[in-house]
Amino acid sequence: MARLTEDMRWMVEHQRLGFVATVCPDGTPNLSPKGTVAVWDAEHLVFADIHSPGTVANLRRNPAVEINVVDALSRRGYRYKGTARIVDGGEELDGIVAFFRERGTKSPIRAGVIVTVETAAPLVSPAYDQGATEDELRERWLRHYAGERSTVA
Ligand SMILES: Cc1cc2nc3c(=O)[nH]c(=O)nc-3n(C[C@H](O)[C@H](O)[C@H](O)COP(=O)(O)O)c2cc1C
Repeated sequence: MARLTEDMRWMVEHQRLGFVATVCPDGTPNLSPKGTVAVWDAEHLVFADIHSPGTVANLRRNPAVEINVVDALSRRGYRYKGTARIVDGGEELDGIVAFFRERGTKSPIRAGVIVTVETAAPLVSPAYDQGATEDELRERWLRHYAGERSTVA
């Protein structure tokens, strides 16, 4: 089991968006975004099943999961690989729902998915290989997104 570092925890809490990969019955990948990905404790992540029938069905058959969380500005993040447990009733689900209500999630929650993180590895853009710093990348991509907004406004 991997212990999440402070930066790994920060990245998840700051982004509030992860891409969750599971394995379909035919072996093909399934990847879908979850805005509820959060840190549950030092070794576990959690997300809410609000409308994720494919992810949940896959995890019931095969609990293998990978979640990628990447900051679009600094072009870095982490990939968390592990096994998932679906919590779809009882007091444990009540606790998970209360956790998400506290964070402001208003949608109906069908189940909670607790992920035991087995490995956590950094994801770093090749832009860093060219000597760019985090601050420079942040600034570059902020400008990029600001420009896009002004062209559609
Ligand atoms: C930005 C974003 C965040 C989302 N967050 C969640 C979430 O936290 N939980 C959820 O169940 N669905 C969430 N969804 C919706 C699912 O990703 C979407 O319904 C997807 O098609 C489910 O696919 P799946 O059944 O293969 O998981 C989100 C979608 C987007 C675009």
